[in-house]
Amino acid sequence: MNQPVLAGVAALNVPDYVKHQKLISWVNEFAALTKPERIYWCDGSKEEYDRLCNEMVASGTLKRLNPAKRPNSFLACSDPSDVARVEDRTFICSQNKDDAGPTNNWMPPSEMRSRLASLFDGCMRGRTLYVIPFSMGPLGSPIAQIGIELTDSPYVVVSMRTMTRMGRAVYDVLGADGDFVPCHHTVGAPLEPGQQDVSWPCSPTKYIVHYPETHEIWSFGSGYGGNALLGKKCLALRIASVMGRQAEQQDGMGWLAEHMLILGVESPAGDKHYVAAAFPSACGKTNFAMLIPPASFNGWKVTTIGDDIAWIKPGKDGRLYAINPEAGYFGVAPGTNEKTNYNCMASMRENTIFTNVALTDDGDVWWEGLSKEAPAHLIDWQGKDWTPEIAAATGAKAAHPNARFTVPAIQNPVLDPAWDDPQGVPISAFIFGGRRSNTVPLVTEARNWAEGVYMAATMGSETTAAAAGQMGIVRRDPFAMLPFIGYNMSDYFQHWLNLGAKLAEQQGAQLPKIFCVNWFRTDAEGKFIWPGFGDNMRVLKWMLDRVEGRAGGEENVFGTTPKYSDLNWEGIDFDETLFDAITAIDKNAWRAEIKLHTDLFDRLNQGLPWQLIEIKADLNKRLSAA
Ligand code: OXD
Ligand code: MN
Repeated sequence: MNQPVLAGVAALNVPDYVKHQKLISWVNEFAALTKPERIYWCDGSKEEYDRLCNEMVASGTLKRLNPAKRPNSFLACSDPSDVARVEDRTFICSQNKDDAGPTNNWMPPSEMRSRLASLFDGCMRGRTLYVIPFSMGPLGSPIAQIGIELTDSPYVVVSMRTMTRMGRAVYDVLGADGDFVPCHHTVGAPLEPGQQDVSWPCSPTKYIVHYPETHEIWSFGSGYGGNALLGKKCLALRIASVMGRQAEQQDGMGWLAEHMLILGVESPAGDKHYVAAAFPSACGKTNFAMLIPPASFNGWKVTTIGDDIAWIKPGKDGRLYAINPEAGYFGVAPGTNEKTNYNCMASMRENTIFTNVALTDDGDVWWEGLSKEAPAHLIDWQGKDWTPEIAAATGAKAAHPNARFTVPAIQNPVLDPAWDDPQGVPISAFIFGGRRSNTVPLVTEARNWAEGVYMAATMGSETTAAAAGQMGIVRRDPFAMLPFIGYNMSDYFQHWLNLGAKLAEQQGAQLPKIFCVNWFRTDAEGKFIWPGFGDNMRVLKWMLDRVEGRAGGEENVFGTTPKYSDLNWEGIDFDETLFDAITAIDKNAWRAEIKLHTDLFDRLNQGLPWQLIEIKADLNKRLSAA
């Protein structure tokens, strides 16, 4: 059975507990292609994590932070060319171009395979090939999926241990012939004999490739975040979204893989609801997921199931149930502080890997927005001296705007008790939100499922630093899934519509209500009008009251919005004029907005569900009549 096989250059050294011959042959083949110096099978233990971190401290990839300030925590600084997801290098290589759709980069799989074969040939020379077994979702849950990531980055190994259920127990679930998603990753920087390594190896050539038919992932050239931790965006969103739709073809319903946080809200009377909310990257999902209600909401509790991804499946009772497939948070550091997200700051007091933040003189971390006053001196994310004076003169940022923390979910003080429940939690409402300085009101409730799908499909948002490219440009980001959908966007809209229709047919069906929010409207000076953060609880409570059928609202051309008197204003000085400024509907702006919806629909073109076209026509009619 598991006798060591020679794979090109390195011995396979398969541990006894790995019984899956197909997996072993696959590792063997990959090693023959990539030619690593050695192969290491990760067991996911704490000893292994500590050892790899120590090795990375010795090699210069990690700096150990001052243990008195931040126990067992590290700082990694990436190559300046490798700081964000690379959407223009991300491909969905389906057999047919139409199956990837107009929003994804595509290349024929045969052409991509031959390109990657030459890039991967010898790409791990001089390095270790790590075999990482991981589960997205609670280990052994019927909803979970197993992945095996092959990588030459120890930074990826330790990050995957935090972000997923990783380790030896995965092989018990997999047995001799279980299914897994094969994830191939390399930093694409082979070492010649005697060549000195750099602290953040990567390549100027980058490819993040998905083959939806075979559920394979191949990632070349980047060591950063979603490009490299392949369980996250690649598996849990792009490949899982494909799986959810394929399941519709099998069971008539399928399931959803969404770019959504999941939170629980408990009233003082003990009534509990769960909501799932989709926002584009770096629009405050982690903050919303860990929200602390204002003091005037005495007795209300908000708890976190997840901060980035939700897998949502229909239950037998006609409700939708969601799990968080991840086990950690990979959040944006800049702007996070004790006021904006106390719980998040508490989560990262120890056992945290920071990437691309600044180092303080006493061995701790700092980023823009962490404190009002910046320290007098720092080492910035690129290893240079930084002072407030230098920043004023040159605009240099101490931390990269997409700097991140990687922390285990179990360190979150408001982790929901059901966060690990393999059955998931029932969803009462979906929230969709973009970052819009104008036009879109604070909150709108869709009149029905299809109108909610329309709202989510036409969502626009100003771009952030989470993706490489220009910032602050409004782009349509349907369902906040533009960079993450693994198939044709029109088919994805149809999948949502079908699921809603099927659920509605079920006995006792309780479809979640759908809301659209915008926390980001600005005044003439460009300042945010809505305080956001904890005060978002006011809007959340209105939504849940609507779910319970006990809150007022006014129907307008787009849906239902609260009147000033429908929200709780206790403990905040926010008058009706300000409320009007964030809820007013400017007809001309909306006429222009709807033209942009038309542009989006024109771009999506084939297969766009007729329901969405009809809803747009109705909207236009109502807008002209108003
Ligand atoms: C993320 C992202 O890292 O959305 O979560 O970019
Ligand atoms: Mn995200």
